[in-house]
Amino acid sequence: MPDTADLPSNRPTQSSAAWFERAHRVTPGGVNSPVRAFNAVGGTPRFMASGSGAWLRDVDGNEYVDLICSWGPLLLGHAHPEVQAAVAEAVARGTSYGTPTRSEVELAEEIVARTPVEQVRLVSSGTEATMSAIRLARGFTGRDLVVKFAGCYHGHVDSLLAEAGSGLATLRDASSLGSSGQAHRVESAVPGTPGVPAGSTAATLVLPFNDRQAVEAAFAERGAEIACLVTEASPGNMGVVPPEPGFNQFLAETCARHGALFVSDEVMTGFRVSRQGQWGLDGALEGWRPDLVTFGKVMGGGFPAAAFGGRADVMGMLSPDGPVYQAGTLSGNPVATTAGLATLRLATDEVYAHVDAAAKTISSALGEELTRAGVHHVLQSGGNMFSVFLDPGVERVRDFADASTQDTMAYRAFFHAMLDQGVYLPPSAYEAWFLSAAHDDEALSRVADALPIAAKAAAQAS
Ligand SMILES: Cc1ncc(COP(=O)(O)O)c(C=O)c1O
Repeated sequence: MPDTADLPSNRPTQSSAAWFERAHRVTPGGVNSPVRAFNAVGGTPRFMASGSGAWLRDVDGNEYVDLICSWGPLLLGHAHPEVQAAVAEAVARGTSYGTPTRSEVELAEEIVARTPVEQVRLVSSGTEATMSAIRLARGFTGRDLVVKFAGCYHGHVDSLLAEAGSGLATLRDASSLGSSGQAHRVESAVPGTPGVPAGSTAATLVLPFNDRQAVEAAFAERGAEIACLVTEASPGNMGVVPPEPGFNQFLAETCARHGALFVSDEVMTGFRVSRQGQWGLDGALEGWRPDLVTFGKVMGGGFPAAAFGGRADVMGMLSPDGPVYQAGTLSGNPVATTAGLATLRLATDEVYAHVDAAAKTISSALGEELTRAGVHHVLQSGGNMFSVFLDPGVERVRDFADASTQDTMAYRAFFHAMLDQGVYLPPSAYEAWFLSAAHDDEALSRVADALPIAAKAAAQAS
C-alpha cells in the first residue's frame, strides 16, 4: 500500500480505509483498474457509495464534486432520472437474450447518424473495440504493421501496450521516451508491461505525437507493410495533448496514400467533445473521414458498451458476412444499449454548450489561481476536456516526452488539497478532467473555492 503518512486528510476516511484493506485481501492492489488505487498520488482511495448529478458521496459520508465522471462516460452526470427510468424498464423486461434486439439497432443508427461511420459493431469495452478494429484493419489490408503514438492509450490490447498513456504512463519510467523533432528509429516497439510477448509488439511502431516528420519517415520506410495507424482523436491519456491544426487530416491523407487504414480512437472523445466527437471539431470541417473509428464511454451511458465502425466495405469483412472473426456474449446487451441510447438522445446541443462553458469556467479559474500562487503551469484543452501540467520544462506540451517533464509531486499536493476540500480530480497527472451537464453553479463554486488552497499546496511542493 502507498505511504500515506505525509498526506493527512481533513476528512474522515475510516470506512474507505477499512474497505480498501478488505479489498486488498481479495483483489490485487485492492482495485479493479490500476489508477483507482491512488498509487501516483498516495493516500487512501475513496470508496464511493452513490452519485447524484455532479456529486459523489463516499462510504464515510463525504461529498465531492466529481471531475472525472467515471473517466468520461457520464456526460449527463450521475443518476440522470431519464436514463435511470429507461434502464429500469429495460431491466424489468430481462437483462440479456443472446439474440438481436431493437435497442442495438437504434443505438447503431444513432451512432451512424452522428459520426462518419457507415456501419458499427457493438462490443463491451473500449479495449475490445480497438483490438477488433486492428484485427479488421489487418484482415482488410492483408498487412501486419500497426503505427501508434507514444502516450496514447487504446485499452490493454497486447500489441498497443507500448509507450502507452493512462495507467501505464502513471507507473512507467520516462527515461526512454523519444520526443518530436528528434530522429526517430523506425523499429519494433518494446512491450510496456511484463506479460506481453515481444512478438505481440514486433509489428507495432511507436512514434512521437504531433510529429509529421516521424510519420513521414515511418511510412517512407515501411508504408507497404502498414495495416493501419491508430491514434486517439485528441489524446487525453497523457494529460490533454490536442492534435495540432491539420494533424489528423495529415494522418488520414498519409494513410490513404500508402493504402493503410486510418483508425481514429474516439473512445474518450466520442459524443463528449461534440455531438460528433473530435471528428465534429476537425474532420467534419476539413472534409476528411477516418476509415475506422472506435467508441466507448459516453455511448454506454455508464454501462459497459463500446463499438467500432467505419467504411461499409471494410466493415463488410467482419463475420458473419466476411472472414474476419469477432464476437461477444454480451455485445449489444439490451440494458447497456438502452442506457447508451437514452444518453445520446439527451446529449443535445444545449448539453454540449453547457459542458463547454463549465470546462472554460473551471480551467480559467485554475489558471488564475496557479498564476496567483506563482506555479508555472501549462493548461491544455481538447474541446471540453482539459488538464494541467504543473511546472513542465516546456511552454507547450506536444507529445508524451513533453508531458513527462511535469512535476508529478506538485500535482500530488494539489490533488490532495482539492480532495480535502471536496473535489474529486483524476488521481494522476496523466489524465484528463471531465465535466457534465449536471455541473451547475453550486458545483462550480465548490471547485473555484477550493483552488486557492490547492494552488498554494502545489507551490509549496514544487
Ligand atoms: C482513448 C481510449 N481508448 C480505449 C480505451 C479503453 O477503454 P476501456 O477502458 O473501456 O477498455 C480508453 C480507456 O480509457 C481510452 O481512453
